[in-house]
Amino acid sequence: MQGVNVVDHPLVQHKLSIMRDKNLSTASFRRLLKEISLLLGYEVTRDLELTTKEIETPLEKMQAPTIEGKKLVFASVLRAGNGLVEGLLDLVPAARVAHVGLYRDHETLQAVEYFFKAPSDLENRLVIVVDPMLATANSAIAAIQMLKDRGATNLRFLCLLAAPEGISNLRRAHPDVEIYTASIDRQLNEKGYIVPGIGDAGDRIYGTK
Ligand code: URA
Repeated sequence: MQGVNVVDHPLVQHKLSIMRDKNLSTASFRRLLKEISLLLGYEVTRDLELTTKEIETPLEKMQAPTIEGKKLVFASVLRAGNGLVEGLLDLVPAARVAHVGLYRDHETLQAVEYFFKAPSDLENRLVIVVDPMLATANSAIAAIQMLKDRGATNLRFLCLLAAPEGISNLRRAHPDVEIYTASIDRQLNEKGYIVPGIGDAGDRIYGTK
């Protein structure tokens, strides 16, 4: 599918299968999400541009590869996005973090904004928007629009699970934004949940409900 990258690494798929089990403890769910986020983060940053800088090893000088450009930004769609950001920051400790607060109106399934905080110079940075679930894509579309309105021009979307409906909606609204996911599940149910899915990601990360 154009613009969609499914990370089919066996470790990702194995960990995801464990996470789907409804009897998994909150602690194990959280740990696995962190582990998967490292692997997904590896893929979403795979093509970052490199430059070289001169360094001196104990033996000689060399032109050593380093990542070019400004520090990247992880934009967490609250609250479940934070479950992915923790691992991503272990991978890229110098990254900046944006927070986008949106809640899903359970009647209309539309995204409603309640919080936004991001680095001021978004225009020069790669912004990786993270939310474990790409369901209707209403939140993702709104979060990306908020970031674009504040200057972001180079964005990717990273999730754990995507529904085919969410992928179509997001690709239609923001065709410039590539999607990275561990799985494309079957469909959305009548309540807007991804099936087979993992349930409510926020509840499973934080042990709420
Ligand atoms: N949000 C979730 O947490 N789970 C879903 O299945 C869909 C949206």
